[in-house]
Amino acid sequence: MLWHGALPSHQQLEKTRLHLISCRVLPESVRRVLEKLDPDQDMMSVLRTAVSACRPSQEWPPTVEDAMMFTAMLPTVIAYRWALQSGRAPIEPDPELSHVANYLYMLTGKRPDPAIARALEAYMVITMEHGLNASTFAARVVTSTRSDMASALCAALGAMKGPLHGGAPLEVRVMLEQIGATEHAEPWLRRELEAGRRLMGFGHRVYKTRDPRAVALRSVVESLQFGDPSFDLAVQVEDLAIRLLEEYKPGRHLYTNVEYWAAAILGAVGIPNTLFTASFSASVRRVDGAHPGTGGEQSLDPTSI
Ligand SMILES: CC(C)(COP(=O)(O)OP(=O)(O)OC[C@H]1O[C@@H](n2cnc3c(N)ncnc32)[C@H](O)[C@@H]1OP(=O)(O)O)[C@@H](O)C(=O)NCCC(=O)NCCS
Repeated sequence: MLWHGALPSHQQLEKTRLHLISCRVLPESVRRVLEKLDPDQDMMSVLRTAVSACRPSQEWPPTVEDAMMFTAMLPTVIAYRWALQSGRAPIEPDPELSHVANYLYMLTGKRPDPAIARALEAYMVITMEHGLNASTFAARVVTSTRSDMASALCAALGAMKGPLHGGAPLEVRVMLEQIGATEHAEPWLRRELEAGRRLMGFGHRVYKTRDPRAVALRSVVESLQFGDPSFDLAVQVEDLAIRLLEEYKPGRHLYTNVEYWAAAILGAVGIPNTLFTASFSASVRRVDGAHPGTGGEQSLDPTSI
């Protein structure tokens, strides 16, 4: 729907599904690049390099086929590199599994529990809901110059990596790990605010109330972790942080954003901390703007990748 502007027919859906599955397999040129990178290179830099090693069409406007290729390929890039970094043989994609279940399978070698795959899918789908976040904006700037999709995605990945955007879930995870227990929360949060630092997972450029995506994701986490001490800690830190943000930053309307509960989801489904930002980037991309019936089904509005 995001690519074509309307829900597909069964036939179109099946065609898209099969095409995405075929694009999961990494081209040999990308594998060679991934094998040559320094072992300690961070995963966002790896993603940028892998995208650069691809050869999208040089035509303009960019095509839905290119968007599909990158969407299908990114989870395989992450899992391939993660396997190399962990000293294991990479696991080939499983064509029987969905985009998200296949990602978890390639990371772990096990077919995931359906509830776990659904939870991660909820996160990945929900991150598409935002029309113009910082990384989308970066991509739009590049593509508006009539450059190619790989260049736009590299810019988007660069913006995504920043801790105030796609890097936020990792920072939330680190914050909750450092707090450790409810009784340490208040002094920890006050110390940060008094030092002029930001509380990660709170505040949003657009939402001046609780981010509706945070509310939705919290209920997904609750269904996975109900009664788990880490869920209770996250709930208590959330309530306390909102209260303290109002005290230290009155009138700024700082509430929970989507990344606060994204951190809990990524942790609960077993994504390693170092893969949080890359996993966020492997969500299906929002590339709207092609309107069926206007002859534009196979091309993308250059301003909306
Ligand atoms: C997302 C974010 C960049 C939006 O920023 P913004 O709407 O442009 O807000 P500003 O940067 O203009 O900040 C406005 C004020 O609120 C404060 N503020 C914003 N977010 C804050 C946070 N999370 N913790 C503490 N203070 C915060 C700023 O320090 C500033 O205070 P000041 O007026 O005293 O200078 C910002 O809220 C933030 O850095 N949040 C933490 C990172 C995060 O969770 N990112 C994921 C976003 S989905």
